[in-house]
Amino acid sequence: MTQDELKQAVGQAAVEILLPTLDDRSVIGVGTGSTANCFIDALAKHKGFFDGAVASSEATAQRLKGHGIQVHDLNSVAQLDYYVDGADEANKHLELIKGGGAALTREKIVAAVARTFICIADESKLVDTLGQFPLPVEVIPMARSHVAREIVRLGGDPVYREGCVTDNGNVILDIHNMQIHDPRKLEEQLNAIVGVVCSGLFAARPADILLLGTKSGVKRLEREQ
Ligand code: 5RP
Repeated sequence: MTQDELKQAVGQAAVEILLPTLDDRSVIGVGTGSTANCFIDALAKHKGFFDGAVASSEATAQRLKGHGIQVHDLNSVAQLDYYVDGADEANKHLELIKGGGAALTREKIVAAVARTFICIADESKLVDTLGQFPLPVEVIPMARSHVAREIVRLGGDPVYREGCVTDNGNVILDIHNMQIHDPRKLEEQLNAIVGVVCSGLFAARPADILLLGTKSGVKRLEREQ
């Protein structure tokens, strides 16, 4: 199976989890990226069975609308049972690095609201220790140098993502060369830096279910409560 086929398989598997729970009032939180796109395409076949979606980025909103799926403002939604999104890395505790597509802040907001966060990824994303993938941090533009210096003090190598402006009008620093042994602690440390909007570490709110596309089928991992 190709990597694209693995992504399609997990997108389809997530739809199958959702389908029995949907009714005409259901609103689904939808993530960003190529794996989330596979989920959107699979979900679109059932668009008559739910009300609509909340999007974690402008790109996702456009794709949902292109399929004729109604996109709601998160502020107008009383309840979000599911959020489905990809990841750049995941560990066995279902803690994640996200933000390769620069949508981390809105992704973290929608994940925070959802009752259940289903992460979908191909098996290459599962790692023992987070940090091989550079950790994205969204930063207020005027604070870029200050935040970069603080990241160096934490032991990381921040690299400015050239030409990238987030949907919120901010910039991204990618932290290289950091083995993240305590994701919760690092998430707290990054949150405490003035000028940081959000980090791509999803540890305080990890995924609840991880669907991993493997050559022998979709593997389901659940977070220990
Ligand atoms: C976007 C993200 C994506 O979920 C992450 O980058 C994975 O993307 P893909 O499914 O294309 O590998 O966090 O901000």
